[in-house]
Amino acid sequence: MNRRTEHSPVKHATVIGCGMIGPDIATVLLTHGIAVTLMGMDENDLEAGREAVQRDISELQAAGIVSEDQAGRAIESLSSTTDYAEGVRDAEIVFEAVLEDVAIKQSIFQKLDRHARSDALLCSSTSGLSPHDIAEPLRDPSRMAVTHFWNPPYLVPLVEIVPHRALAPEARETIGTFLTELGKVPVFLKKDIAGHIGNRLQHALYREALYLIEEGVASPDDIDRVVLNSFGPRFSAVGPMEYFDSCGLDLHQKVQGYLYPTLCNAPEPQKILLDNIEAGNLGTKSGRGLYAWSSSGSDEFRSRRNSRFIQKLKQPSGTEPTDTNPTGAEPSGTNAKAAEPEGPNSEASNPEGPTPEATATNPAGTGQPTP
Ligand SMILES: NC(=O)c1ccc[n+]([C@@H]2O[C@H](COP(=O)([O-])OP(=O)(O)OC[C@H]3O[C@@H](n4cnc5c(N)ncnc54)[C@H](O)[C@@H]3O)[C@@H](O)[C@H]2O)c1
Repeated sequence: MNRRTEHSPVKHATVIGCGMIGPDIATVLLTHGIAVTLMGMDENDLEAGREAVQRDISELQAAGIVSEDQAGRAIESLSSTTDYAEGVRDAEIVFEAVLEDVAIKQSIFQKLDRHARSDALLCSSTSGLSPHDIAEPLRDPSRMAVTHFWNPPYLVPLVEIVPHRALAPEARETIGTFLTELGKVPVFLKKDIAGHIGNRLQHALYREALYLIEEGVASPDDIDRVVLNSFGPRFSAVGPMEYFDSCGLDLHQKVQGYLYPTLCNAPEPQKILLDNIEAGNLGTKSGRGLYAWSSSGSDEFRSRRNSRFIQKLKQPSGTEPTDTNPTGAEPSGTNAKAAEPEGPNSEASNPEGPTPEATATNPAGTGQPTP
């Protein structure tokens, strides 16, 4: 793991929230040599947060990403408190990661306005709330941005940075540089939109997949096998927009002409989702969702979900593409490069590309599709 941030001017950060994502953000900072104060609602909340950090760091150590020494120093650099005056006093940057509720987040930012250093950068992890609303209690909103990490942040590189009207260009720049030093790949949205970029793309896929299940076209397992054996691996090597170009825009026009009218455009959560929730099927956490899950199945899923990211982190730095444009193809526009002619065996003449070998007959591990 890159240690560059040991030279970063950020020596102390505060993470507020001990749920799913807060401790994982703390782990990113701690394993890059930054002292972290973790803040929670009460002692039980803090205890859960400290345990999660310990679990994350043990996972990184077991994977050979941090040494025993680094893991020990990371844990020693963690403190925790429920007191805002104490918790944010030394922080050069604060990451808020509490429940997705605008009133709760505003109450946190009100406390930050009172207790944080006047030059501290203030970040929210919200997955969809407007940064403008969250920043409302701040006298100086120019230092606040949304930094949307992806789960688990200590493994997944992407952080979407969502600006708002008042965000100062220097604050935007500093946050982006800091995240890059942490080994993250910041992507700046040009403007605020619900779901940012990644979740809009994911949910477009989820909506269509649930529709195909509801319509009796495919089982959950069929959907997973289609993705895992086709565009899933493909999109870990080339971006979908690059791939889009490689197929030929005239082909997309033909396909969109007949396909778009048939795609799901449900404006609300779908029936299959609501029926499952009504029946208490909440997914891995309740033991049943679209699949039936055993606890070993959930563990196996977590380890499979993390394995690719662990492999990438273990590659010597500089060998993995971390750009948003890994191949160097330039977007069309004023400075677009002339494209190389495509050969007869290029993916352009075979839009489905080579079919990767099957990697799983039951992609959800021991999870079994439920009727
Ligand atoms: N879970 C994810 O995968 C994920 C990914 C990216 C971003 N996010 C965002 O990060 C934030 C936290 O998500 P999460 O999944 O960790 O949530 P969570 O529900 O697991 O977090 C709960 C934590 O929020 C804090 N909290 C709850 N109620 C509070 C209150 N009234 N006052 C102060 N603190 C309170 C507590 O520390 C609690 O442990 C959300 O904004 C979410 O949208 C989550």
